[in-house]
Amino acid sequence: MFKVSEIKITELQRYVKLSKPAISKYFKALDTGITHSNNRITGISSNEASLFLRKQSSYKFHKPSITLSANLCGGVGKTSSVYSLSAALRRVSSSTTDPIVLIDGDSQASFTHIVCGQRADDNEYILIDYIENKASINQILNDIGNNVYFIKSNLNSAFLDKALNKPSDIKRAMKNLYSDIFQTLGRNTKIFQDHTPQLSNLFASSISALYQMDDDILCNVLIPIRSDEFAIQGAKYIINEINELVDTYSFDTNKVKINCFFSALDRRVSTSGEALKAAMSDEVIKNYLCPVIIRYSSEIPKSIMSCQNIFASGKSNNATDDYQELLQYIYN
Ligand SMILES: Nc1ncnc2c1ncn2[C@@H]1O[C@H](COP(=O)(O)OP(=O)(O)OP(=O)(O)O)[C@@H](O)[C@H]1O
Ligand SMILES: [Mg+2]
Repeated sequence: MFKVSEIKITELQRYVKLSKPAISKYFKALDTGITHSNNRITGISSNEASLFLRKQSSYKFHKPSITLSANLCGGVGKTSSVYSLSAALRRVSSSTTDPIVLIDGDSQASFTHIVCGQRADDNEYILIDYIENKASINQILNDIGNNVYFIKSNLNSAFLDKALNKPSDIKRAMKNLYSDIFQTLGRNTKIFQDHTPQLSNLFASSISALYQMDDDILCNVLIPIRSDEFAIQGAKYIINEINELVDTYSFDTNKVKINCFFSALDRRVSTSGEALKAAMSDEVIKNYLCPVIIRYSSEIPKSIMSCQNIFASGKSNNATDDYQELLQYIYN
């Protein structure tokens, strides 16, 4: 089950330019979807929160979107960032009208393991079965509750590159998948895809698909970085690969937003400032650097160990605040 905690009034203030009393007044008039303690509102359901937010002119989360995380360097926070962002989005979007699809594009299947408790069984349909026309879209979409669907992975995903070996297949395969998802679940769907720390035909296919999506679909590539040179180098290779695909197929460069962001920066550590400066002065990275930084939070490893996202417990921490900020940034 995909769980997220209720949203607090102070959190809603991040999304709207209204005072706390003004927001409280709106919710005090409601009978359902609100948790009280001594006449004080302590939590608001995501459906009520999203109904409220939708009334604001600044509301952006109704848009369909595809968000892909990638870096050639392992262990930089690719999986944590797609999972955390999807949970941040579930809390401010309606679970009745806005489906979320999580795709595990990594044969290590850590995303599947974290969210579903275990990797896909050999007899379960996964992404490669769809790509090889052995399974339909409905057969690979696993309903994990709260209007969230999961496309699972296991080691068999390592054969995806063999299944996608022709340039025409690369250009078409993931475009077909995303289009099928929007057709099946509706135009409000938001897709989050995790990726392996390698260049692959699946990555090329996914990137090509993003550039071929209709203009109303918000397309983002998130590149988590850390303070080490290896993570920066991995980010640069990813950006290079994307730019080569854009050149090869003459895609419109503005269609996809590329964001490099620090995914676990500890501001108390003296090297953090140097890492930031180095990223800001790097000829390539500086053009894609996102102003939002995810701070180091010991809650992320803990929540992952318990097969939950950081928004499931209801306790706020550095990372929950920062991921809400990042969500707003990528939806702008
Ligand atoms: N903001 C953060 N604060 C503290 N720890 C974090 C943070 N973000 C991620 N982590 C931890 O960093 C580790 C690596 O994260 P994650 O698994 O998301 O990286 P990845 O890029 O997906 O790795 P891989 O390349 O193996 O797929 C995990 O243990 C995760 O809990
Ligand atoms: Mg991962």
